[in-house]
Amino acid sequence: MFPTLLIFTTLLFLSLSPSNAQKPPLYVFGDSLYDDGMTLYNGVKGAGAEYWPYGETYFKKPSGRYSDGRLIPDFIAQFAGLPFLQPYLLPGLKDYTKGINFASAGACVLVETRPQTINLKRQIDYFVQMVQKLKQQVGEAQANKLLSEAVYLFNIAGNDYVTLLQKNVKKLPLSNFKRNRQMNMILGNLTIHIKTIYNQGGRKFAFQNLGPLGCMPSMKYMLAFKGTCAPEPQELAKMHNAKFAALAKRLQNNLPGFKYSIYDFYTSLYLRVIYGSRYGFRESETACCGSGSYNGDFTCQKKDQSFTVCSNPSEYLWFDAAHPTDKANQAFSKEFWSGGSNLVAPYNLQNLFAAN
Ligand SMILES: *[C@@H]1O[C@H](CO)[C@@H](O)[C@H](O)[C@H]1NC(C)=O
Repeated sequence: MFPTLLIFTTLLFLSLSPSNAQKPPLYVFGDSLYDDGMTLYNGVKGAGAEYWPYGETYFKKPSGRYSDGRLIPDFIAQFAGLPFLQPYLLPGLKDYTKGINFASAGACVLVETRPQTINLKRQIDYFVQMVQKLKQQVGEAQANKLLSEAVYLFNIAGNDYVTLLQKNVKKLPLSNFKRNRQMNMILGNLTIHIKTIYNQGGRKFAFQNLGPLGCMPSMKYMLAFKGTCAPEPQELAKMHNAKFAALAKRLQNNLPGFKYSIYDFYTSLYLRVIYGSRYGFRESETACCGSGSYNGDFTCQKKDQSFTVCSNPSEYLWFDAAHPTDKANQAFSKEFWSGGSNLVAPYNLQNLFAAN
């Protein structure tokens, strides 16, 4: 009698235990800040973080991530009780029920900006394709349930502005006409893509806003700027973030059930640049890996060029000319996950995952 009872209660416990319940999946879109290997499978030789010193701190080998370790989606997946997400183009059988990462290095919103990369449009096309595969895997009803509970995480548009500035290096500051034209096209296309996911059943969206582009070592190197943060890129990022926040609010008003979270990455990263030591970063302006002023020349991992690598990435905010270290990404992720409304609003990720 006793052993039977024991088995019975064990089974009951297993089937009711929350850790055994299906977690909401996490689908990720964006650029190199979120790319966890996608670019390695895009068939462009030399693209993707495939050589030392990428990955050296956490994975102990290059993993396709532009950092010495983990990226924000890695930490978020972990906080949400999910495994590290598989890149969509990873060959072989994939489990779409836990989430997938579509983000790819160099990605832009505007399709003509960097044609050789997996831009946001292509990422969304892949997502729509994946929805069909998910429905084959678990059936229509279960797939629809997962899609409506899932969180859709974005970091995109930084490269659109970096490229715009690159093309106009000799003509800065940009006119307000040029700024607004670009911004409206970016936001217009973003709206289309968000609505595509909404129409597939997505309801819970999370956005990392644009970082302080002018403080990036790569930007300071490109503009030959000496100082903490170059003003023109800062201005563009702030304008975009303000317009995007208004757009997200409009979407919430117009699309029934649409919920969102915006993480103020701009402010968080900016504070760490200017008050590095207060946040535990001895060096917050010069990258750990690269060459040139601020190590802003993006030569890290390029075998045919010379570059230097620091021996202690955890003291650095920037691992390379454009990407934070594992330590910095961990700090950002904690804020995104459970930060107060001054950092992440209207929902933080923890509450967005739990929302229904
Ligand atoms: C989307 O971007 C293209 C340029 O890539 C632009 O011509 C078009 O107007 C944009 N669409 C919207 C709705 O803004």
